Amino acid sequence: MSNTPNTPFDTSLFGKTTHNPSFASLTKQFSEINGLRDYCIPVNPYFPPQQVMDKLQERIAYALKYYPGSNQSIAENIAQFSGVHNPKTIIAGNGSTEIISWLNSLFIQESLFVPVPSFGRWIEEPQGLGVELHTYRYEDANNQYAAPETLIAEVKKSGARNLVICNPNNPTGSILSRDEILQILAALPEQDNIVIDESFIDFSGEEPPSIKNDVASYPNAWVLKSLGKNVGLHGLRMGFAISNENNIAKLRTHLPYWNVNGITEMLLHLIKDEHQAYHESRLKTIADAIYLSERFEELPEFTVYPTHSNFIFVKLRDDINGTELRDRVLQHHGCFIRNCGNKLGSSEQYFRIAARPADDVNHLINAFKIELHALGKPNNTTSNLLIAD
Ligand SMILES: Cc1ncc(COP(=O)(O)O)c(C=O)c1O
Repeated sequence: MSNTPNTPFDTSLFGKTTHNPSFASLTKQFSEINGLRDYCIPVNPYFPPQQVMDKLQERIAYALKYYPGSNQSIAENIAQFSGVHNPKTIIAGNGSTEIISWLNSLFIQESLFVPVPSFGRWIEEPQGLGVELHTYRYEDANNQYAAPETLIAEVKKSGARNLVICNPNNPTGSILSRDEILQILAALPEQDNIVIDESFIDFSGEEPPSIKNDVASYPNAWVLKSLGKNVGLHGLRMGFAISNENNIAKLRTHLPYWNVNGITEMLLHLIKDEHQAYHESRLKTIADAIYLSERFEELPEFTVYPTHSNFIFVKLRDDINGTELRDRVLQHHGCFIRNCGNKLGSSEQYFRIAARPADDVNHLINAFKIELHALGKPNNTTSNLLIAD
């Protein structure tokens, strides 16, 4: 569906990058929100607690007027918040994307293996830097899960020098257990680098299968972790990597001394002991993801894959145009969703939908019911339920 003067959002923005357009660009820098609801970026809406935001706002002038601390001092706050035992194994990034770029530029050379579909920065950036990309496609028939034995065999067969696995995977939501990840690390000691991107692992369950305190014992392994979406402030840019002290020291020599800004530093200082509030917020976000998944099961046009994260991965029936459906729920209902048509290993029939509080989920399900009906694909369950919420 093309953009017209009568429609509030410019859908031509979708064609401009392999990421979705930003909320800012769709809303003319937040001047025309037009009821837009973001189901695209999976964030934790229940954190930070209000008193933390109040303190941040009270002190923000200091963060703007003074230089932040060094990367190493910021890493100490990250270690305390994230339960990483040795802060010297942490490097802080201006968003984890900054660290991804440094790893892609400095460490990942020659060839890389990535199970797909995956996060675009692990695909397009290495390709742009001339790295040979090898992939394994997660299968519908296997619920998007790939067994460690399969991945190990495929990596060996490919001859790739480096490996990146997102755990849980974005966008499929599939996960490997801690033992399965350790099995992969043990089986592939000859790899130059193995990166486990745990950006969404806090939403995988009550006890996330993180290897954050194991990874430093391997010479070639890294954990990568985004923090912004986890703490509900992804505009702020926060993320980090964990590896052995040698790898971290090597990476640190390349990083600007003040790569992380003062507001992020202040926020990290304010949340470093907020473990209970963070835990409760994680559990609420996980409950939202379960509710989202259950409500999607009401739409027979979609296959819903099992999720271990704060988003779900769904596949639309082949005879309905996925891009048109994306544009219709945006233009008519303000629902901004991620169509995966521009992701390697996916197609426009697949969507990643972020968990949100129940009211927003109800709004989205209703929007889908209306638009699926309007697209001329009525079915028994949707045709008599076209009510506005
Ligand atoms: C798997 C994965 N890793 C890393 C990132 C980067 O996040 P950020 O740079 O905001 O920390 C993302 C963002 O969506 C992601 O999906």
